[in-house]
Amino acid sequence: MSQVNLNPQGQQMADESMVRTLAAQIEAIWPQEQRLIERYRLPDEARVLDVGAGTGEFSARIAAAYPQAQVTGVELLPASVELARSRHAGMGPRLAFETGDAFNLAQPDDAFDLVVNRHMIQSVPHVERVLAELVRVTRPGGRVHVLAEDYEMLHMMSGPLDPDVFWRKGPVEYAMRTGTDARIGRRAWTLLRAAGLQDVRVDYVVVDTLRVPRQVFADIIAAWRDGYTEPMATAEFPPALVRTHFDQIVGSILDPEHYAVWFVPIASGRKP
Ligand SMILES: C[S@@+](CC[C@H](N)C(=O)[O-])C[C@H]1O[C@@H](n2cnc3c(N)ncnc32)[C@H](O)[C@@H]1O
Repeated sequence: MSQVNLNPQGQQMADESMVRTLAAQIEAIWPQEQRLIERYRLPDEARVLDVGAGTGEFSARIAAAYPQAQVTGVELLPASVELARSRHAGMGPRLAFETGDAFNLAQPDDAFDLVVNRHMIQSVPHVERVLAELVRVTRPGGRVHVLAEDYEMLHMMSGPLDPDVFWRKGPVEYAMRTGTDARIGRRAWTLLRAAGLQDVRVDYVVVDTLRVPRQVFADIIAAWRDGYTEPMATAEFPPALVRTHFDQIVGSILDPEHYAVWFVPIASGRKP
């Protein structure tokens, strides 16, 4: 049996702050992401699988945007599945949530027009095994859509502490310590091609202080602060300093004279 922890952020994913993170992230990202999905020209009765669905924010939005689609959200954490079910019960049987493991999906081969994985591969090791599963369950000609975070694609003025130092010493080094890659966004094109997809491209959702309400952008960072300050801290980078960095970044985003941006890579490809 593998000794590697396949879910090193399990505790953070189960924290109440993650519910806030996911709610603010979808509010910031969905309006731009929806336009990317429109380019796939999904059939009206599209079969959509959302892997690592969390609280079902994306699953619910795509089900609403495609009123005849059948959407299934698969999520490792039973509590998140329960929350997703109770929050989105109004959609009826067209939108279903189930517990499942992205490393070993229960879904059959070649079954979905669109397979989605968002905000997950930065938090797990052996990403190539997850991508192989996403490709396996996609029908030939169907699309795989992966939102792959990269914690060195956040830029802000902040100050007096340097936010560039923070993103490196905080999330990037934390991920290295847990066998994951917090800069996986820049590797996503290569990984999707290696998984056998064609027409692989990378588009960016631009979460910035011009396109997204400042409060929503700030809520994302504040929720990350509340969930990740302790795990990111080390003896050399203590919790109080991590928190001060986060607070200065939140303050900068809320400052009407400051500009801040988070480039969010979305890699996609077609199964041959
Ligand atoms: C940051 S959340 C993103 C949730 C959702 N995709 C969204 O965009 O709102 C990542 C989710 O992936 C789930 N996850 C992690 N490893 C998983 C696995 N092996 N199989 C299924 N879900 C997993 C976590 O429990 C968490 O809910």
